[in-house]
Amino acid sequence: MLIGNPPVELPEPPLTSGSLALREWAEGDVRTLVEGCGDPLTARYTSVPIPYTPEDARRFISFGRSPTALPLAVVSGDDLAQVLGGVGLHAVSLTRRRAEIGYWTAPWARGGGVAQEALELLSTWALGPLGLQRLDLYAEPENDGSQRVAERAGYKRGALVRSGIALRGRRYDVIRFTLLR
Ligand SMILES: CC(C)(COP(=O)(O)OP(=O)(O)OC[C@H]1O[C@@H](n2cnc3c(N)ncnc32)[C@H](O)[C@@H]1OP(=O)(O)O)[C@@H](O)C(=O)NCCC(=O)NCCS
Repeated sequence: MLIGNPPVELPEPPLTSGSLALREWAEGDVRTLVEGCGDPLTARYTSVPIPYTPEDARRFISFGRSPTALPLAVVSGDDLAQVLGGVGLHAVSLTRRRAEIGYWTAPWARGGGVAQEALELLSTWALGPLGLQRLDLYAEPENDGSQRVAERAGYKRGALVRSGIALRGRRYDVIRFTLLR
């Protein structure tokens, strides 16, 4: 059914808050992806492979956008080569006007509001120019940092979704956070 559908469009002009910018992942990001995704906290709470190899990074970069996904690098607004983390839309349905959103911040950039700013930038665009009406994100009950990021970005806490996500073959309960247009 998705065959023939174009990939999710890129924000145009590219999204930036001044201190941060969002761009597509590029070949030069392999090393920082390996370092960022190899971090135990990122590995625990996201679906990245463990261990995370340069080959995993190359595959992720070459896969890029799709009709249902828009993965973006969060980079410094002053230096677009400096990766601070990742943010992305998943399970995008332009017909149902909804998507899921996820994020991680590289260990060297944590504690400075990077995830919140990136989440706000992408959410505002997705619920605006992209035309979506609903964004959901899922955080595990013990992932306090992620829950604070979600609520500070305006997401409303919803239900506990039992066995709501599968990470590397194991299912975890998650809290759903939602932002409506
Ligand atoms: C959750 C996460 C995205 C927060 O990113 P961030 O850019 O540091 O976000 P913020 O700077 O806005 O900080 C948010 C919270 O992270 C925690 N935090 C702050 N500094 C931190 C540090 N050095 N290391 C780890 N966590 C830290 C704090 O709890 C903070 O909340 P507070 O400011 O109310 O105390 C990041 O810790 C991460 O990448 N975790 C692993 C991946 C993940 O959990 N993704 C979300 C899946 S739902």
